[in-house]
Amino acid sequence: MSELRIGVVTSSDSCAAGSRTDGSGPALVALAEARGWTIAGYRLCADDGDALAAAIVELADVEAADVVLTTGGTGFGPRDVAPEVTLRVCDRMAPGISEHIRAESAKVTPRAMLSRGAAGLRGRTLVINLPGSLKAATESFSFVADQLEHAVSMMAGGGHD
Ligand code: MTE
Repeated sequence: MSELRIGVVTSSDSCAAGSRTDGSGPALVALAEARGWTIAGYRLCADDGDALAAAIVELADVEAADVVLTTGGTGFGPRDVAPEVTLRVCDRMAPGISEHIRAESAKVTPRAMLSRGAAGLRGRTLVINLPGSLKAATESFSFVADQLEHAVSMMAGGGHD
């Protein structure tokens, strides 16, 4: 097991405004910790492109997160901008991760097709969008978590095991 540094960002207007408690972000933190990974930081921001971009960039560039998991903002709502922000802050995309999340999620609910989540690399940081509900976020995490250590090792120039 390698010691990954994980950043978690919740994108939610209602949670940022305090009218709802964020369950998904803390749940992802707990799931990462249960795997023995270190939390590089947890941020809660409104569904605002600039705020979300700033949170991802800070976790990647300042807190040196290996992986930044975002939750929320992947749907069709007018303020759902997590995929566009991810495209903006990443230099290379990793579509296979999002394709896998949607394919596995579709076995759980046909509404999986309504998540536009993206994934990409910002330097040495892998950014992965997960949908926002507690159920969707934790399910989606479970579909990719086993591959994250290998992904990070490859990003550092490691070969295949
Ligand atoms: N993926 C999984 N695994 N489980 C779910 O329950 N819900 C879907 C989808 N992906 C869901 C899922 C629903 S209902 C929506 S609207 C989209 O994710 C987008 O969610 P978001 O806008 O909270 O990001």
